[in-house]
Amino acid sequence: ESDSSSTGGAETESDGLIFVGKEENIKKSQRITAKINGREIVVFYHEGKFHALDSRCYHEGGPLCRGEIEDIDGQACIVCPWHKFKITLETGEGLYEGINPLEPSPTPKWQSKGVKQRIHKVTIDNGNVYVSPPDLSVSFDSDYFAEKYKNGGELAM
Ligand code: FES
Repeated sequence: ESDSSSTGGAETESDGLIFVGKEENIKKSQRITAKINGREIVVFYHEGKFHALDSRCYHEGGPLCRGEIEDIDGQACIVCPWHKFKITLETGEGLYEGINPLEPSPTPKWQSKGVKQRIHKVTIDNGNVYVSPPDLSVSFDSDYFAEKYKNGGELAM
């Protein structure tokens, strides 16, 4: 009876999914912050899709929930309000603009530093939005700040 629209047909209730909000409310506000197991996350609704990421930037802990979303080479990225690092919403990759000095006329190109920001799986079920608990057997740079700010003060929008 769990009419799950999740990918992979997981059993919604037994997965320990954490309710973060109503689908229609997040669609309206476009972003919310939430805590999953004490960890601050931000959920964005952008161009028809939900994305959940650790809310503290992997660089120095900037509040991604206050950043602007920008399109970079066709990838939606959150731009950290502190030092303007760009992070893809889809994969959590850090992007940087680099040049290849060996090219005849070097022009900056966006390149990936790899996945830096932990992303969280989002499941929509019956108008409710859930986030899966993080798999801590794999680590990401943003974990350091997620731990540091865990159960800490309020992260105002
Ligand atoms: Fe996010 Fe520095 S803290 S760019």
